[in-house]
Amino acid sequence: MDVYEAVTSRRAVRGFSDRPVPTETLERVMTAAAWSPSGSNIQPWHAYVVTDGALAEVKKRAGERLAAGDPWDEAEYEQYPPALKSPYRERRSAFGEQRYGALGIPREDLEARQRAASANWDCFGAPAALFCYIDRDMGAPQWADVGMYLQSVMLLLRAEGLHSCPQMAWAKFHGSVAEVLSPPDELMLFCGMSIGFEDTTAAPARTGRAPLQETVTFLDRC
Ligand SMILES: Cc1cc2nc3c(=O)[nH]c(=O)nc-3n(C[C@H](O)[C@H](O)[C@H](O)COP(=O)(O)O)c2cc1C
Repeated sequence: MDVYEAVTSRRAVRGFSDRPVPTETLERVMTAAAWSPSGSNIQPWHAYVVTDGALAEVKKRAGERLAAGDPWDEAEYEQYPPALKSPYRERRSAFGEQRYGALGIPREDLEARQRAASANWDCFGAPAALFCYIDRDMGAPQWADVGMYLQSVMLLLRAEGLHSCPQMAWAKFHGSVAEVLSPPDELMLFCGMSIGFEDTTAAPARTGRAPLQETVTFLDRC
Protein backbone atom coordinates (compact mmCIF):
# COMPACT_ATOMS: atom_id res chain seq x y z
CA MET A 1 0.00 0.00 0.00
CA ASP A 2 1.49 3.37 -0.94
CA VAL A 3 1.22 6.45 1.24
CA TYR A 4 -1.60 8.02 -0.81
CA GLU A 5 -3.67 4.89 -0.41
CA ALA A 6 -2.92 4.70 3.30
CA VAL A 7 -3.95 8.33 3.81
CA THR A 8 -7.12 8.17 1.73
CA SER A 9 -8.27 4.78 2.99
CA ARG A 10 -7.84 5.75 6.64
CA ARG A 11 -11.11 6.76 8.17
CA ALA A 12 -12.65 6.63 11.59
CA VAL A 13 -14.06 3.11 11.64
CA ARG A 14 -16.82 2.57 14.18
CA GLY A 15 -17.52 -1.12 13.74
CA PHE A 16 -14.87 -3.81 14.22
CA SER A 17 -14.89 -7.58 13.97
CA ASP A 18 -13.67 -9.60 16.94
CA ARG A 19 -10.80 -11.07 14.88
CA PRO A 20 -7.76 -10.67 17.14
CA VAL A 21 -4.90 -8.39 16.13
CA PRO A 22 -1.57 -10.25 16.38
CA THR A 23 0.80 -8.79 18.97
CA GLU A 24 3.68 -8.88 16.45
CA THR A 25 1.67 -6.65 14.11
CA LEU A 26 1.06 -4.11 16.86
CA GLU A 27 4.73 -4.22 17.81
CA ARG A 28 5.74 -3.66 14.17
CA VAL A 29 3.40 -0.67 13.87
CA MET A 30 4.53 0.92 17.11
CA THR A 31 8.20 0.35 16.26
CA ALA A 32 7.80 2.16 12.93
CA ALA A 33 5.59 4.92 14.39
CA ALA A 34 8.39 5.76 16.82
CA TRP A 35 10.11 7.37 13.78
CA SER A 36 7.50 10.15 13.79
CA PRO A 37 8.98 13.65 13.95
CA SER A 38 8.85 15.90 17.01
CA GLY A 39 10.36 19.28 17.80
CA SER A 40 13.95 18.70 19.02
CA ASN A 41 13.13 14.99 18.87
CA ILE A 42 11.69 15.07 22.39
CA GLN A 43 9.03 12.44 21.49
CA PRO A 44 6.49 13.80 23.98
CA TRP A 45 4.11 10.84 23.78
CA HIS A 46 3.55 7.66 25.71
CA ALA A 47 1.26 5.05 24.24
CA TYR A 48 -0.24 2.07 26.02
CA VAL A 49 -1.28 -0.69 23.62
CA VAL A 50 -4.00 -2.68 25.28
CA THR A 51 -5.62 -5.99 24.33
CA ASP A 52 -7.26 -9.03 25.88
CA GLY A 53 -7.96 -8.95 29.63
CA ALA A 54 -6.62 -5.44 30.15
CA LEU A 55 -8.82 -3.99 27.42
CA ALA A 56 -11.81 -5.98 28.66
CA GLU A 57 -11.24 -4.44 32.09
CA VAL A 58 -11.06 -0.87 30.73
CA LYS A 59 -14.24 -1.42 28.71
CA LYS A 60 -15.98 -3.02 31.70
CA ARG A 61 -15.18 -0.12 34.01
CA ALA A 62 -16.31 2.46 31.48
CA GLY A 63 -19.44 0.44 30.69
CA GLU A 64 -20.37 0.21 34.36
CA ARG A 65 -20.02 3.96 34.77
CA LEU A 66 -22.15 4.57 31.69
CA ALA A 67 -24.83 2.20 32.96
CA ALA A 68 -24.79 3.92 36.36
CA GLY A 69 -25.11 7.34 34.70
CA ASP A 70 -21.87 8.51 36.34
CA PRO A 71 -20.69 12.00 35.44
CA TRP A 72 -17.57 12.35 33.29
CA ASP A 73 -14.24 12.74 35.02
CA GLU A 74 -13.10 16.31 35.42
CA ALA A 75 -11.68 17.41 32.07
CA GLU A 76 -7.90 17.70 31.99
CA TYR A 77 -7.89 19.70 28.77
CA GLU A 78 -10.48 21.51 26.69
CA GLN A 79 -11.55 19.35 23.75
CA TYR A 80 -12.93 22.29 21.75
CA PRO A 81 -13.00 26.04 22.29
CA PRO A 82 -16.09 26.86 24.37
CA ALA A 83 -17.61 28.96 21.58
CA LEU A 84 -16.58 27.29 18.37
CA LYS A 85 -16.61 29.96 15.68
CA SER A 86 -17.41 29.77 12.00
CA PRO A 87 -16.53 27.82 9.85
CA TYR A 88 -15.57 25.22 12.47
CA ARG A 89 -18.97 25.29 14.17
CA GLU A 90 -20.74 24.52 10.88
CA ARG A 91 -18.24 21.76 10.04
CA ARG A 92 -18.80 20.21 13.45
CA SER A 93 -22.54 20.21 13.14
CA ALA A 94 -22.32 18.86 9.56
CA PHE A 95 -20.23 16.01 10.95
CA GLY A 96 -22.85 15.29 13.64
CA GLU A 97 -25.63 15.31 11.03
CA GLN A 98 -23.69 12.92 8.83
CA ARG A 99 -22.56 10.58 11.60
CA TYR A 100 -25.94 10.22 13.27
CA GLY A 101 -27.92 10.64 10.04
CA ALA A 102 -26.14 7.55 8.68
CA LEU A 103 -27.54 5.68 11.69
CA GLY A 104 -31.04 7.04 11.03
CA ILE A 105 -30.96 9.20 14.17
CA PRO A 106 -32.63 12.59 13.78
CA ARG A 107 -30.95 15.74 15.10
CA GLU A 108 -33.39 16.23 17.98
CA ASP A 109 -33.08 12.67 19.34
CA LEU A 110 -30.27 13.40 21.78
CA GLU A 111 -30.86 10.19 23.70
CA ALA A 112 -30.37 8.05 20.59
CA ARG A 113 -27.25 10.06 19.73
CA GLN A 114 -25.89 9.39 23.21
CA ARG A 115 -26.69 5.69 22.89
CA ALA A 116 -24.77 5.54 19.62
CA ALA A 117 -21.90 7.52 21.12
CA SER A 118 -21.69 5.09 24.04
CA ALA A 119 -20.18 2.54 21.62
CA ASN A 120 -17.01 4.62 22.00
CA TRP A 121 -16.43 3.03 25.39
CA ASP A 122 -16.69 -0.45 23.97
CA CYS A 123 -14.10 0.62 21.36
CA PHE A 124 -16.79 -0.11 18.77
CA GLY A 125 -16.14 -3.81 19.37
CA ALA A 126 -12.41 -3.56 18.58
CA PRO A 127 -10.15 -6.21 20.15
CA ALA A 128 -7.23 -3.79 20.53
CA ALA A 129 -6.79 -0.21 21.62
CA LEU A 130 -4.15 2.36 22.22
CA PHE A 131 -4.27 5.00 24.92
CA CYS A 132 -2.08 7.97 24.15
CA TYR A 133 -0.72 10.14 26.95
CA ILE A 134 1.20 13.40 26.94
CA ASP A 135 3.20 14.95 29.75
CA ARG A 136 1.18 17.69 31.50
CA ASP A 137 4.09 20.14 31.11
CA MET A 138 3.85 20.14 27.33
CA GLY A 139 2.50 22.98 25.22
CA ALA A 140 0.79 23.37 21.84
CA PRO A 141 3.81 22.38 19.69
CA GLN A 142 4.19 19.09 21.57
CA TRP A 143 0.46 18.36 21.24
CA ALA A 144 1.00 18.76 17.49
CA ASP A 145 3.88 16.25 17.73
CA VAL A 146 1.53 13.78 19.39
CA GLY A 147 -1.00 14.29 16.58
CA MET A 148 1.65 13.43 14.01
CA TYR A 149 2.60 10.37 15.99
CA LEU A 150 -0.99 9.17 16.09
CA GLN A 151 -1.42 9.72 12.36
CA SER A 152 1.72 7.64 11.77
CA VAL A 153 0.18 4.87 13.86
CA MET A 154 -3.09 5.03 11.92
CA LEU A 155 -1.38 4.96 8.50
CA LEU A 156 0.84 2.06 9.52
CA LEU A 157 -2.25 0.21 10.71
CA ARG A 158 -3.70 0.67 7.21
CA ALA A 159 -0.53 -0.86 5.76
CA GLU A 160 -1.25 -3.90 7.94
CA GLY A 161 -4.84 -4.13 6.68
CA LEU A 162 -6.14 -2.76 9.97
CA HIS A 163 -8.43 0.16 10.75
CA SER A 164 -8.67 2.55 13.66
CA CYS A 165 -10.73 5.24 15.30
CA PRO A 166 -9.01 7.93 17.36
CA GLN A 167 -11.20 8.78 20.37
CA MET A 168 -11.09 11.79 22.62
CA ALA A 169 -14.18 10.20 24.17
CA TRP A 170 -11.85 8.13 26.32
CA ALA A 171 -10.53 11.29 28.00
CA LYS A 172 -13.99 11.64 29.57
CA PHE A 173 -13.25 8.49 31.58
CA HIS A 174 -9.54 9.09 32.08
CA GLY A 175 -9.81 7.99 35.71
CA SER A 176 -11.14 4.54 34.82
CA VAL A 177 -8.48 4.10 32.14
CA ALA A 178 -5.80 5.08 34.67
CA GLU A 179 -7.10 2.54 37.20
CA VAL A 180 -6.18 -0.21 34.76
CA LEU A 181 -3.06 1.26 33.10
CA SER A 182 -1.53 2.99 36.16
CA PRO A 183 0.25 5.76 34.22
CA PRO A 184 2.57 8.05 36.18
CA ASP A 185 0.90 11.19 37.56
CA GLU A 186 2.72 13.52 35.17
CA LEU A 187 0.97 11.98 32.18
CA MET A 188 -2.42 13.13 30.92
CA LEU A 189 -4.66 11.03 28.66
CA PHE A 190 -5.09 12.75 25.31
CA CYS A 191 -7.14 10.08 23.57
CA GLY A 192 -7.81 6.43 23.01
CA MET A 193 -7.76 4.67 19.68
CA SER A 194 -9.77 1.60 18.71
CA ILE A 195 -7.79 -0.79 16.54
CA GLY A 196 -8.88 -3.85 14.62
CA PHE A 197 -10.24 -5.36 11.45
CA GLU A 198 -13.30 -3.61 10.11
CA ASP A 199 -16.70 -5.24 10.50
CA THR A 200 -17.53 -5.16 6.82
CA THR A 201 -21.21 -5.85 7.46
CA ALA A 202 -21.61 -2.33 8.86
CA ALA A 203 -22.18 0.41 6.26
CA PRO A 204 -19.00 2.49 6.21
CA ALA A 205 -19.55 6.23 6.48
CA ARG A 206 -17.06 8.38 4.57
CA THR A 207 -16.85 11.90 5.89
CA GLY A 208 -16.36 14.75 3.48
CA ARG A 209 -13.84 17.56 3.59
CA ALA A 210 -14.07 21.30 3.11
CA PRO A 211 -13.27 22.46 -0.43
CA LEU A 212 -9.50 22.67 -0.78
CA GLN A 213 -9.47 26.46 -1.24
CA GLU A 214 -10.99 26.80 2.26
CA THR A 215 -8.06 25.08 3.91
CA VAL A 216 -5.11 25.49 1.53
CA THR A 217 -3.69 28.56 -0.21
CA PHE A 218 -1.27 28.01 -3.07
CA LEU A 219 0.94 31.00 -3.85
CA ASP A 220 3.13 31.06 -6.89
CA ARG A 221 4.28 34.66 -7.03
CA CYS A 222 5.11 37.45 -4.61
C1 LIG B 1 -8.05 13.73 18.10
C2 LIG B 1 -9.28 13.06 17.57
C3 LIG B 1 -10.27 12.65 18.43
C4 LIG B 1 -11.41 12.01 17.96
N1 LIG B 1 -12.35 11.55 18.86
C5 LIG B 1 -13.36 10.78 18.42
C6 LIG B 1 -14.23 10.16 19.34
O1 LIG B 1 -14.11 10.31 20.55
N2 LIG B 1 -15.19 9.35 18.85
C7 LIG B 1 -15.36 9.13 17.51
O2 LIG B 1 -16.26 8.38 17.14
N3 LIG B 1 -14.55 9.74 16.60
C8 LIG B 1 -13.56 10.53 17.03
N4 LIG B 1 -12.68 11.09 16.13
C9 LIG B 1 -12.84 10.81 14.70
C10 LIG B 1 -13.33 12.04 13.94
O3 LIG B 1 -14.70 12.24 14.15
C11 LIG B 1 -13.03 11.83 12.45
O4 LIG B 1 -11.64 11.70 12.28
C12 LIG B 1 -13.53 12.96 11.59
O5 LIG B 1 -14.93 13.09 11.65
C13 LIG B 1 -13.12 12.77 10.12
O6 LIG B 1 -13.60 11.53 9.66
P1 LIG B 1 -12.63 10.39 9.10
O7 LIG B 1 -11.53 10.20 10.10
O8 LIG B 1 -13.50 9.17 8.97
O9 LIG B 1 -12.10 10.86 7.79
C14 LIG B 1 -11.56 11.79 16.58
C15 LIG B 1 -10.57 12.22 15.70
C16 LIG B 1 -9.44 12.84 16.18
C17 LIG B 1 -8.35 13.26 15.22
